[in-house]
Amino acid sequence: MHARAVAASTTALLGTAALLFPAAPARAAEGSTSPLVIAHRGASAYAPENTLAAVDRAAELGIRWVENDVQRTRDGELVVLHDDNLRRTTDVEEVFPGRSPWKVKDFTAAEIARLDAGSWFGPAYAGARVPTLEQFVHRLERHHQKLLLEIKNPELYPGIERQTLKVLSNEGWLDRSHLAGRLIVQSFSADSVRTVHELKPGVKTGLLGTPPVADLLDVAEFADQINPSHSSLSPAYVSSVRAFDGPHGSRLEVFAWTVDDARTARRIAGYGVDGIITNRPDVVRRAVGG
Ligand code: G3P
Ligand code: CA
Repeated sequence: MHARAVAASTTALLGTAALLFPAAPARAAEGSTSPLVIAHRGASAYAPENTLAAVDRAAELGIRWVENDVQRTRDGELVVLHDDNLRRTTDVEEVFPGRSPWKVKDFTAAEIARLDAGSWFGPAYAGARVPTLEQFVHRLERHHQKLLLEIKNPELYPGIERQTLKVLSNEGWLDRSHLAGRLIVQSFSADSVRTVHELKPGVKTGLLGTPPVADLLDVAEFADQINPSHSSLSPAYVSSVRAFDGPHGSRLEVFAWTVDDARTARRIAGYGVDGIITNRPDVVRRAVGG
């Protein structure tokens, strides 16, 4: 059976979930045929990654979509940080010299809140903090932005999918308007993405990586997007992905990462991707018009 036909049956079974979800792909919903431009960890070429300053910088550039990385502290708070440890992007080694290897999961939220997450990037950002997920979505809301949320290292944080959805729900990010085009949850872990889909079928989801084409029919039962590194992409792979329909009855989308120069952006846009994730969203937008 053709992939679309199979997925259509799945959609019928999902009922309410499909009703909640926008039928149009993101690009059409945005009224553009250019790929969406997503600020990777915020506008992270210009401000420290995954901080509120990086969100603000994206907003100043007029970028509506922001990607982030979510992990969990020792006392169960969700925070926005890429690495599984705090060394590269904070002054944790100075503040807590005896706490090697400085893993996020070994620090409380109060301890992490003391850290400087900006000085490593430049003196202008001294005092920037590691935001909680709540703080992050508040800032996005203030700017009327949209969130591509990555559940990072889910194997380290059992139950993080349910907890992430709870926080999003508490903050109003699972209401109809957010589900209809302001939120996508992604992960490198297929299990994590499947869990998000099962817990909250109305949430749009993405699987990071480049799964074999032979696996796409299965993946399309719980993921709306396949989001590969641009270096692993080919026009044929993008076409293959886009031949499948996802769990909400729309064709699978492709967001490619991380593209920071105009030439690569134009090439990848030419493959027909739906979004480009970039540390330099101004450069990519100029190149592809997203
Ligand atoms: O959103 C895609 C990209 O963020 C995945 O890689 O390592 O930057 O989280 P990474
Ligand atoms: Ca990420």
